[in-house]
Formats: sequence, structure tokens, C-alpha cells
Amino acid sequence: MSVVIVVGAQWGDEGKGKVVDLFTERADVVVRYGGGANAGHTLVIDGQKLVTHLVPSGVCHPGKSCVLGDGMVIDPHTLLEEVAQCQARGLLVRDELLIGLGAHVILPYHKLVDGLREDHGAKRGKAIGTTRRGIGPAYEMKAARRGIRVRDLLRPERLAELVARNLDDLGPVIEHLGGTRPSKDEVDGWIRDAVAAGERLRKHTGDAGRHVARAIAEGRHVLFEGAQGCLLDLDHGTYPYVTSSSTIAAGACQSAGIGPTQIDAVVGITKAYATRVGEGPFPTELHGDEGERLRKAGGEYGATTGRPRRCGWLDLPALRMGVRLSGMQSLALTKLDVLAGMAEVYICVAYQLDGRELDEPPTDPDDLARAQPVYTKFPGWGPLPSDARDVTDLPAPARAYIDAIERMAGVPFCLVSVGPDRSETIRLHDPFA
Ligand code: IMP
Repeated sequence: MSVVIVVGAQWGDEGKGKVVDLFTERADVVVRYGGGANAGHTLVIDGQKLVTHLVPSGVCHPGKSCVLGDGMVIDPHTLLEEVAQCQARGLLVRDELLIGLGAHVILPYHKLVDGLREDHGAKRGKAIGTTRRGIGPAYEMKAARRGIRVRDLLRPERLAELVARNLDDLGPVIEHLGGTRPSKDEVDGWIRDAVAAGERLRKHTGDAGRHVARAIAEGRHVLFEGAQGCLLDLDHGTYPYVTSSSTIAAGACQSAGIGPTQIDAVVGITKAYATRVGEGPFPTELHGDEGERLRKAGGEYGATTGRPRRCGWLDLPALRMGVRLSGMQSLALTKLDVLAGMAEVYICVAYQLDGRELDEPPTDPDDLARAQPVYTKFPGWGPLPSDARDVTDLPAPARAYIDAIERMAGVPFCLVSVGPDRSETIRLHDPFA
């Protein structure tokens, strides 16, 4: 029996989709545990692309149980579209999906408030750069104990009451932010659509916590799939430029309702360089041609919003923080091939701030914005062999780069990805072993 958590070690978009897809070969149950349709996992299988936002990336392996945990915030319409897209490809046709009845629901007014706040913030130079998917407002209502859960979609009267109460709270907020309160007809339409979506999803709903606990008790392999990355964690990330959920490994236990003693391994995913979407300090960001080159080579455009991602050199202080926050025992390195063809590559090994050298990001966002990266330069390498199956198949400079990351992050690699396809992978250690 093995219970493994896979978590993004940076600011999200580390290529978790591919890694989760590979690890799912060995898993029986795959669980998404936090966030919502703000995430976007791009999977390339046999050259074909599938983007998932809510359904776990393990979906591509028919017959594996795919769970949406209670800690998620789920837009039922997005979920239905995604299920239909998967089913059109012959996936999720065997009753594999289980949606936690305790997960919270995102309705149109959550997205409305998210968008209005962003527009309002942008005018004052204070936007977070959210995905506008209603994530923050849905988690706010949850914390205020006024949230709407998947179970409420199945009780139309209760749903209508809760929606009315939410809009009593949010009406003045919407107006203050320059929006228009939704009309009664509009709200009635939202409720009707939500009830209809609930009916279509009903057969997939259940007690996700007990399902996962039972699988663990039966000795099955369970894989928890993190969304976003450790530096976007609500408590420990680069607040306030974070998402509204717990993105670190501990969030898996909290969201799925299992104890930390059940976890056997935590794997972090890091890209060979760094990216960030939205606002917030990013010390190794590359502007101009260098950043653009990475963006183009890595296809660094948001899978959810299509926004160009900010690109920069690998940031070891940030990675160390991710390793620490999630207790990662190994790392999967992705997109090493994207750096191929560069004359030289850099790793930020520390920050300089007010005459001090820091091995992790300072906790205050203004300090992080002032921190100066200290770089180590590495010789570049040419194209990587896509059939590389061992690190010894890689050019010596690429090996030296990997060795340096391992040494400075303090944890070994369990996998190195040298291209987008499943086959373009060097597997070093099986976390389920
Ligand atoms: P929210 O989660 O939509 O509220 O956005 C808050 C911050 O998290 C913004 O900077 C987003 O760009 C970022 N974010 C949210 N989800 C992802 C993701 O899946 N990948 C990368 N960044 C994300």
C-alpha cells in the first residue's frame, strides 16, 4: 500500500499533469484536493492534447477512481463540460468519477465578484491577477459559513435559500465595485441551471472522504494530485499574491479528510526554470527577449486563461521553501528540454537583501520584491535525445545542471521529463515502490 501526494513546488504550472498521468499507471485512486477551475492541466497522450481543470489528471487511465475532494470549489457547469469532453474520448465512461458532497460550489455571482474585484484593483494598481474563476469569493463564503456545497445542489429549496442569503451579502459589494445587482430573473435562471447540473452530477456524488479512507484501508495505491504550487499557498505562499486554498501537501489530508499518518511519500514537481501567472514578486523574472524565448520554447501560456506566463531562471530559494513546506522527499524535474539550445543557463542560488544573503524567500512581499537574485552560471546544452531513459543518456552539461539542483534543493529526483509525451521521460525511482 502506498499513499503519495504530488504537489507543485513553485508558483503552479510545473507540469503536474504529465507527472500525475505517469504515476497514475500505478495508482488505483487519484484525488484532486484543492482549488477549482483555476487549475489547468495539459496532458499530451499519443500526440493528442487534453486539458483538464477539475477532473484529476489521472483520468486518462480508464478504470482508475477519480475523486474530487471536499476541499475543492467546483463550478458544476465547467465540470459537466469537462466530463463530456472526456467521455467523447472514451474516458470516464465506467463510473470512475466521485465528487465529494462536501465540496463547495461556484455559481455565476462568485465569478462576477472575482472579476469586479480584479477590475477595481487594477485601477488602483492592486490586482492579484486571479483567474477570475470565482475561487476567492467561493472560499470566502465557505470560511464565513455561508457557502453552497455540492449536496445543496441536490436540495433545490435549500439551494434557493442559500443563494438568496449570499446575494443579500454580496449585493452591496457588487454595487460598491461598480457592478449591477443581478435581477430576480437572472438569479432564478442561475438556480434552475444549478439544480439541473446537480441532477446530472447526482450519480457521481458521494462521501469522498470515506471512499479514500476505505481505499487506503484496503491497501490500494492512492495518489493525491495538488493544484497550483506551494508558493501560492494561502497561509505560507507569497501572500497576498496567492490563491485561496491550501496548496501544500498538508492540504491533501485536510481536504480529503484523512490523517497525516496515512501518507507514505510526498513528491514535488519543479520546472527546470520558473514561471508565474498573475501579479506578485518574482525575483528571477526575465524581461525582454530572454523571457520571450523561454515563453515560446516552453509554450508558457495559461491552460485556463491563455495569459502569457511570466518566465525566469530557476529560483532555488523558492524551491527550497516549497520542499520545506510540503516535506518533499523527492522531486520530478519537468521541461528540461525547453532550456536546450541556450548558450548558458542560470540558477538563482540565493538572494541578497540589505547586505544579507538569504537561502529562502523573505516572508514580507515588499522585501521579496527588493531581493536581488545571486546567480550561478552553467554551460548550455543542445537538443536532448527524446529516447533518453537514464540521466547518463543526457549531454554532460544537462547532467551537471540536474546534479546542481539536487544538491542545492537537498532532495533527489525521482523523474526527469525531457519532452511533453509520456514516453519522453527518465524514471529514476517509483514513489509507489
Ligand atoms: P485565483 O486562484 O484565481 O484566485 O488566482 C490567485 C493567483 O493564483 C493568481 O496569481 C493566479 O494566476 C494564480 N493561480 C491560480 N491557479 C493557478 C494555476 O493553476 N497555475 C498558476 N497560477 C495559478
